[in-house]
Amino acid sequence: ELAKGVNGLDKIVLRESRGSSAEVYLYGAHVTSWKNDHGEELLFVSNKALYKPPKAIRGGIPICFPQFGGLGPLEQHGFARNRFWTVDTDPPPFPTPTYSKAYVDLILRPSEEDIKIWPHSYEFRLRVALGPGGDLMLTSRVRNTNTDGKPFTFTFAYHTYFSVSDISEVRVEGLETLDYLDNLKYRERFTEQGDALTFESEVDKIYLSTPTKIAILDHEKKRTFVIRKDGLPDAVVWNPWDKKAKAMADFGDDEYKHMLCVEAAAIEKSITLKPGEEWKGRQELSAVPSSYCSGQ
Ligand code: BG6
Repeated sequence: ELAKGVNGLDKIVLRESRGSSAEVYLYGAHVTSWKNDHGEELLFVSNKALYKPPKAIRGGIPICFPQFGGLGPLEQHGFARNRFWTVDTDPPPFPTPTYSKAYVDLILRPSEEDIKIWPHSYEFRLRVALGPGGDLMLTSRVRNTNTDGKPFTFTFAYHTYFSVSDISEVRVEGLETLDYLDNLKYRERFTEQGDALTFESEVDKIYLSTPTKIAILDHEKKRTFVIRKDGLPDAVVWNPWDKKAKAMADFGDDEYKHMLCVEAAAIEKSITLKPGEEWKGRQELSAVPSSYCSGQ
């Protein structure tokens, strides 16, 4: 169902029969809401989010493509998150069927202006689907449609902002003992020591060769988010903490306490596609109630 969002921007509202829902803005193919069947919001979006092109929406799930981060020739996190996508009414068949009627297919192709900054022709298809249990599934397919025979290379992330009750009560499981690149130290490589991750200061790390399943445990909310991913070996963990929060115009000073980004990504090893080739990257999010003692 097509609806008007903030500032008159078009959005698609997905509803699943048991009551869960999601919202996707055509601007950025940006998921800005994911609610469980009790109507509770599971994603964080800043109260100060601008919904004003060309600024990406602060929160939800921005798509970072064709460049993750600021190291490279393009603007920070690439341009997919601040382009207007269109609804793809006739998508080619998906390799894995979507067992739900609550889904939408969006497509991005380069404009003439885009080709000046990234000289390649591509089709980027994104399917956003709600599963019967309220799981949120995002499948990206990028195809090289260059006619000049040239390959292209890109990096990618689903920059998901999870809503958490209190960042100092949150733990992330699945990344302990892994190698990571520290974005706060010019991407120097370190190895994570010890137990599950907890948070007491700014963090901006790219974990490498991560498992297909990562969990975020929110003790206060008694909720565990589970991220399952495919084709996305890396995982970025980001929280700006107080100082960076104050420096961001579209982010409240205290909002860092209520969010955590865990981003399924392909960064360390960039992806190269020859003409005609397609890449697929998938993430599936679920939110499950956890008993107080779980994982302790
Ligand atoms: C994270 C990066 O993924 O995104 C951080 O690792 C960055 O370095 C953050 O600050 C937010 O980026 P932006 O462009 O949305 O402000």
